[in-house]
Amino acid sequence: MSVSPSVIKVNKTENSRLHEVDALNINFGKHYSDHMLIAYYENGQWNPPEITPFHNLYLSPATTFFHYGQAIFEGVKAYKAPNGDALIFRPYDNWKRMNRSAERMAMPDVPQEIFIEGMRQLIALDHKWIPESEDTSLYIRPFMLAIDEFIGVRPAEKFMFIIITSPAGPYYNHPVSIYVQDQYVRAFPGGIGFTKAAGNYGMSMYPTREIKKMGYDQILWTDGFEHKYVQEIGTMNVFFVIGDKVITPDINTDVILEGVTRDSVITLLRDKGVTVEERQLSIDEIEEAYKAGQLKEAFGTGTAASIAPIYQLTYHDDVMTLPAVETWEIANWLKQELADIRYGRKADTHGWTFKV
Ligand code: COI
Repeated sequence: MSVSPSVIKVNKTENSRLHEVDALNINFGKHYSDHMLIAYYENGQWNPPEITPFHNLYLSPATTFFHYGQAIFEGVKAYKAPNGDALIFRPYDNWKRMNRSAERMAMPDVPQEIFIEGMRQLIALDHKWIPESEDTSLYIRPFMLAIDEFIGVRPAEKFMFIIITSPAGPYYNHPVSIYVQDQYVRAFPGGIGFTKAAGNYGMSMYPTREIKKMGYDQILWTDGFEHKYVQEIGTMNVFFVIGDKVITPDINTDVILEGVTRDSVITLLRDKGVTVEERQLSIDEIEEAYKAGQLKEAFGTGTAASIAPIYQLTYHDDVMTLPAVETWEIANWLKQELADIRYGRKADTHGWTFKV
């Protein structure tokens, strides 16, 4: 289908809620901006999307995704540049990843005209919702739900694609403490670990609640065969600085999410001449590096979290405490470099920023 920009019907609110946001104290995921985009898929095609005031959904209790979790989402961010431009970071990469998730979950492709052009118009309309202070942005959440009214188990035929946005501060406002999980499993080969399917997050709630009770912030998942190789952290990809190399699990398997921030980090490090290895990394190798004083830094990457330093890693009784985060060269440089590009303060030589 082809949706020309004029085909997106816009129904503007007369009652902005922007004044409810405390610009000096923005948490993650608490406020939703004035408008949302919504598009329906039926009879094998997408209908033209609409931008409407943010509203609740009215759905039958028999709706497919309530029962079987046929639902996927993305996370994207828009930043306010010093000259006032609204810049979306790498939306095409999220669009492509959404369609990879859609294929695996038997859902239709979302056309570029809906995902990208719809997002552009939504952000243009709600640009005042992009916060301006450092470490803040407008978090953009595109998602798709299966909405057949049918409780038999079969791939649905009707879908809803929605984009909502939310002014956001840092996801983690402190360095995180990580528990290496060797009881529960996030992803198996052949499964949906590489997708942003709702179920990947739903299944993590119980193990995460258990480790939070023990005082940890997040789980580092390991492979399901031997619990030997690290995969990713609850909401992020993971990187370790060992000696003078940066190592991250490779995505050539279908168990790891192909993070857009992950890719940006690898690209920036390689541009700077740092060796980045994408490969299997065992928890034994991490422990040995720690004992030898070679585990210099560890951090998670993600759209919501950006770069999240890991100050402590616990595996069984082995508590690995890393050097003070302020002394880290790589993660702190990356955080600054990425921020400078995202906020449009530094030339974007990779074509990552999308001006609204
Ligand atoms: C993101 O980083 O955008 C995510 O989707 C992770 C989490 C907030 C679910």
